[in-house]
Amino acid sequence: MRIDIMTLFPEMCDTVMSESIIGRARKSGKVEIVCTNIRDFAGNKHNKVDDMPYGGGMGMIMAADPIYNCYKSLFSENEPKPHLIYMSPKGKTLTQQRVVELSKLDRIVLLCGHYEGIDERVIEEIVDEEVSIGDYVLTGGELPALCLADAVCRMLPGVLSDDLCFEEESHFAGLLEHPQYTRPAVWHEKTVPETLLSGNHAEIAKWKRKQSLIITKQRRPEMFEKIKLDKNDIKLLDG
Ligand code: ADE
Repeated sequence: MRIDIMTLFPEMCDTVMSESIIGRARKSGKVEIVCTNIRDFAGNKHNKVDDMPYGGGMGMIMAADPIYNCYKSLFSENEPKPHLIYMSPKGKTLTQQRVVELSKLDRIVLLCGHYEGIDERVIEEIVDEEVSIGDYVLTGGELPALCLADAVCRMLPGVLSDDLCFEEESHFAGLLEHPQYTRPAVWHEKTVPETLLSGNHAEIAKWKRKQSLIITKQRRPEMFEKIKLDKNDIKLLDG
């Protein structure tokens, strides 16, 4: 997969995407991440990419042309138009389900806004989807783009050491993950739940499922309501 990030801060994006698991995935060619500076497409001698808003108001607006020309530079006429996602607090909130869908595309382009937003006409012309990472506002789209890129990359085959491990993770199946423990077996007088030490795989699986159900019910009742509980789940919750 290839992920392009269109940004005014390409070094910031490249640095974050060079560390740890994502950095290794890039080095081994499992994902290609290309950060492109929108300012390189300013098209004026002062490299200016923003201007005052029509109708007045606070702050500056990113102009259409640098963004449009930057996007156009990323693919040729005879290539398919890559899916363009504009990171915006006005977008649809990102979910793990959408992350999985995006990870199946060959290529995505992430557009990071700055200042008070970008000219609506370029959104209409090139943006396929607006995505928010939550109901709060950041100073720019870089951190949201990095969150999305990280979440998508870790779903690519071979990026995580064990492909099965995200099946038990929070949000993968609409549930929050059960608690985890490692050595020592006693820490600050707290013991590890006995079942986890038993070596009984069926009982351990039941324990994990029960804990997931309980935690989801307590912390995210709206998520819990959507779970289709089977007979065993009901028994686990009663017991
Ligand atoms: N840009 C600023 N805030 C954002 C958010 N919450 N999600 C996506 N992009 C943003």
